[in-house]
Amino acid sequence: MSRKLRSQHWFGGLDKDAFIHRSWMKNNGLPDDAFDGRPVIGICNTFSEFTPCNAHFRGLIEHIKAGVLEAGGLPLEFPVFSCGESNLRPTAMLFRNLASMDVEEAIRGNPMDGVILMAGCDKTTPSLVMGAASCDLPSIVISGGPMLNGRFRGQAIGSGTDVWKFSEDVRAGVMSQKDFMAAESAMSRSPGHCMTMGTASTMASMVEALGIALPGNAAIPAVDAARARLARLTGRRIVEMVAEDLRLSKILTREAFANAIRVNGAIGGSTNAVVHLLAIAGRIRTALSLDDWDRLGRDVPTILNLMPSGRYLMEDFYYAGGLPAVMKEIADLLHLDALTVTGRSVGANVADAENFNDDVILSRGKALTASGGIAVLRGNLAPDGAIIKPSAATPALMQHRGRAVVFETIDHYKARIDDPDLDIDETSIMVLKNCGPRGYPGMAEVGNMALPQKLLKKGVRDMVRISDARMSGTAFGTVVLHTAPEAAVGGPLALVREGDWIELDVAGRRLHLDVDEAELARRRAEWTAPVPDMTRGYQGLYVERVMQADTGADLDFLVGGSGHAVPRESH
Ligand code: FES
Repeated sequence: MSRKLRSQHWFGGLDKDAFIHRSWMKNNGLPDDAFDGRPVIGICNTFSEFTPCNAHFRGLIEHIKAGVLEAGGLPLEFPVFSCGESNLRPTAMLFRNLASMDVEEAIRGNPMDGVILMAGCDKTTPSLVMGAASCDLPSIVISGGPMLNGRFRGQAIGSGTDVWKFSEDVRAGVMSQKDFMAAESAMSRSPGHCMTMGTASTMASMVEALGIALPGNAAIPAVDAARARLARLTGRRIVEMVAEDLRLSKILTREAFANAIRVNGAIGGSTNAVVHLLAIAGRIRTALSLDDWDRLGRDVPTILNLMPSGRYLMEDFYYAGGLPAVMKEIADLLHLDALTVTGRSVGANVADAENFNDDVILSRGKALTASGGIAVLRGNLAPDGAIIKPSAATPALMQHRGRAVVFETIDHYKARIDDPDLDIDETSIMVLKNCGPRGYPGMAEVGNMALPQKLLKKGVRDMVRISDARMSGTAFGTVVLHTAPEAAVGGPLALVREGDWIELDVAGRRLHLDVDEAELARRRAEWTAPVPDMTRGYQGLYVERVMQADTGADLDFLVGGSGHAVPRESH
């Protein structure tokens, strides 16, 4: 390698500074030749026992390290903030940006030449890629892999998707509490992340489609030996990438994002990918807008038959051929010449892919929906946009006019929803406010509000719901999300009142509040901004500086990057 490696600014030389950097590292058991100019590979580990989806990373990292060593690199692990979806309150999304800051500063401040990003649970993938993108060293993602299929009384059950379904069945009185508890133990059968096409599986697919993970990364189950082999190959490959100076900015082009958006449509991916990809693009300074999601995803058929849009799970997806087989099926819609971490193009990566089960990976003629992707709605209720996932919605509700039943906050919703006197029927539109980036805070996954018990008991299973929140990638329904600007900053959503008429027209991409402008102006004059619960510490900073959903909900001062120049000496 002709250029001087970044790590040699710490470990090279004979002066006192190099003495300090090397000597302390030697207490790890590293001999003199560990500092001879070989590439230092940082392994960014989101292991945490509070993030059960990533709790197997201590084992996985040993395979990564073996690969780095085999290729002649020096692997050094570093922990970062782990955003676990199932435990973190008030919502893991509040901490995505914090974790990304941790990742960025840890990479820039330490002697590393390349980075492996170990991600799994929903927010761990975007937070790591966002932080790494702001440094722009050679970087590669390895996902921890999905759990094995859930199995309950002979039936496959999926993380999240069946939680929502069973919970509604209990509230509707068609499932017992005892069976509900039994399903809880049958759902999570092995290490790994959610095995539906929720946000974790979607983001594992997105990094593969973007070209920043090795082919096959998305679908291999966490406990399959193929995952360990992929980890080893990832370790080997990053050492080569350092030699090639193959940095994120060379891969994360507009074409790469276009590929990812199209793949998201093909797999019936999570709506959460919208904010995450917009935020990643912002960090690497690649032009990407909310409207690109609509435009690029509109003609993509959903061909992956996985929950929540379809019936299978990630383990089945792996056996069917994984993401390369999906990408090959829609190859004519992709930029096949886009560069990837393999050093080859997308087209070369998927050329030999095979589909081993055409009921899991469908042919385009048998697609779940001809027009997958994410629809972006606009109108006086969402001047900066709102989104809906048509493949998870009820076709009959995609054009609907209904009377608003308004919940001012999530607590207001919880207090009212099962009130027998609530004036609501299946034609009503449920409106939830103050659950956006600033309002919740953190834009929680509460947009797929459970329906009122009295309607569930009548057999109603879907209604139009509108909010400034997100929803879990494992969820489903005619749910309008990410409404921008959000209610807490005075967006029109804040002005909706009980009984107002609202029109949803997904085909026409329209979301309209049927209230005249003079009345809206009166309501706007009366509106006062909600007072945040917390104004100090990180949450205070977040509420002050978070951007809206249509630009990725990053903190405004984190957009862009500061590169990976070697910082001033520490002593
Ligand atoms: Fe971690 Fe679903 S809770 S991926």
